[in-house]
Amino acid sequence: MFPQTRLRRLRQNDKIRDLVCETRLDPANFILPMFFDENIEKDITTDSMPGIPTHPLSGYEDMANKIEESGVSSVLLFGVPKVKDAVGSQAYADDGVVQKAIRGLKENSDLLVVADLCMCEYTDHGHCGILCDCGAVDNDKTIELYGKIAVSQAEAGADIIAPSGMMDGQIMYMRDALDDAGFKNVPIMAYSAKYQSAYYGPFRDIANSAPGKGNRAGYQMAPANRREALREIESDIEEGADIIMVKPAGPYLDIIREAADRYPVPICAYQVSGEYSMIKAAAANGWIDEDRIMMESLLGIKRAGADMIITYYAEKAARMLRGQ
Ligand code: PBG
Ligand code: ZN
Repeated sequence: MFPQTRLRRLRQNDKIRDLVCETRLDPANFILPMFFDENIEKDITTDSMPGIPTHPLSGYEDMANKIEESGVSSVLLFGVPKVKDAVGSQAYADDGVVQKAIRGLKENSDLLVVADLCMCEYTDHGHCGILCDCGAVDNDKTIELYGKIAVSQAEAGADIIAPSGMMDGQIMYMRDALDDAGFKNVPIMAYSAKYQSAYYGPFRDIANSAPGKGNRAGYQMAPANRREALREIESDIEEGADIIMVKPAGPYLDIIREAADRYPVPICAYQVSGEYSMIKAAAANGWIDEDRIMMESLLGIKRAGADMIITYYAEKAARMLRGQ
């Protein structure tokens, strides 16, 4: 007996394959991470993140034009401050590095600016909040500061606030702070299921934000846990998150899929620095085809259920999709 069902019928040529294509990438759903450093005058690059510049606080128009020409219209901002201290005070300074970068981009472009909100780039100990005497991060003191950071970022003109510190109650606290300050319409994109991941290594090279002592296991999630991620997502939605996020993306596709099946909210996934740098490194050795792996990794994330993807490949992938 030969088969009656022949799945190959729909794989015969480009047109048929295109017709039955279930998942398509679109530059409109990409968010490009951008780094700004107060200490520099010209772009610099970090060895472990080829092709990802850290920018000075100038030249906004040119850098934004290049991004917008690719078809990408959203960016996620991180800052590297001149001074770090125990309480991360540059994170909520009105003239802090990220506040300046937000203003610079908003005044000189049409980009949608998402502000990452955390303290690890701003504290001298490298943790994502204030430490108590015991050396752990003090949850409630930290979320009070997150409220201040959120307001200062909104005042600078951020379109969306994206808290990545994994403190309990942070979304509720920030929503309240934003509303009180008159920013009722500024959405919160919550890093809801953020795992304690070794894939953040290259990011910490760029931001110089590795914890001096200890690690982030006391607040970021254990990679082994799935149900706990759903609890995190659920509580962020209850607290008023507008968009939820799973991070990293590639090793956590099951979490993205489950969140997409369960919750009627927009889902973002973050293809993090280590996911990017591994592809770069293998490609530099000639071991893989970078363009194809880039597209396949992004397609997998979207197929898993992500509506939007934060990726260091945003610009390159957008150009490819648009045939540039
Ligand atoms: C800050 C933050 C980190 C990343 C995004 N926001 C680093 C961390 O938690 O240590 C990682 C992003 C990446 O690796 O690309 N909390
Ligand atoms: Zn942090």
